[in-house]
Amino acid sequence: MSAIPLPSALVNRLRSARRVAVLTGAGISAESGVPTFREAQTGLWAQYNPEELATPRAFRRQPKLVWEWYAWRQQRIRQAEPNPGHQALVSMERHIPEFTLITQNVDSLHRRAGSHQILELHGNIFRTKCFSEDRPVESWPDGDEIPPRCPRCGGLLRPDVVWFGEMLPATALHAAEHAAATAEIFFSIGTSALVYPAADLPLRALDAGATVVEINPQPTPLSSRVTFSLNGAAGEILPALVAQAWEAI
Ligand code: OAD
Repeated sequence: MSAIPLPSALVNRLRSARRVAVLTGAGISAESGVPTFREAQTGLWAQYNPEELATPRAFRRQPKLVWEWYAWRQQRIRQAEPNPGHQALVSMERHIPEFTLITQNVDSLHRRAGSHQILELHGNIFRTKCFSEDRPVESWPDGDEIPPRCPRCGGLLRPDVVWFGEMLPATALHAAEHAAATAEIFFSIGTSALVYPAADLPLRALDAGATVVEINPQPTPLSSRVTFSLNGAAGEILPALVAQAWEAI
């Protein structure tokens, strides 16, 4: 695996780095079998565009449809396992004194792999909150109604994820901005770098003088601006990078 050629300047910088921040997107979970956000959906859901389902407006109009779509995604994610890309980030965290993992993914695969310092910018698909009160709800009485209702106020329940047009959780976003602005090395992994404000984080890191590394098999709007653009799958490149930085000594 460590035969993958990687820039030695990057390997050396990583080995001696004290502050590293990583931004991940759907691409890091693609090798676990979780479809990326902009990939065509399958089966019953093929006729829907995720960008039209993941909005407060869609939920207001068709709450049952949106709840069932998330239930289907939850089920696919439960069947998935973390892959070598997630695992390499667990090992990177062990070697770097100040390590921040910022993710746009809602799938919990980083946590299941064993990462600790995780900022979930777009929420988590396994959590539920009240659509009316915007407060987390952990349990609700069994019933036939879909979506179920908030036991406190009777409002509809929804997944605790960030939808298009909604604000990101402020504390996580500020912590992510701080990590981006102070990192010596910033990685942008498996993200199309299209959705703001997450897409702004690598640009902040660049402005602050960090080494910025992109890992993606496809070019993105960020590719021409980064210090190192590593063209390939996260599940191959990340384990090779970790091996060359810390195991090949
Ligand atoms: P996208 O689906 O937009 O992009 C996934 C990226 O992963 C693409 O650039 C792929 O080329 C890349 N990719 C695919 N396989 C890969 C692999 N094996 N290794 C590395 N990269 C790979 O997903 P995101 O950028 O995460 O937001 O999307 C960002 C946000 O947009 C999502 O969180 C969601 C969506 O709208 C909300 O729901 C608010």
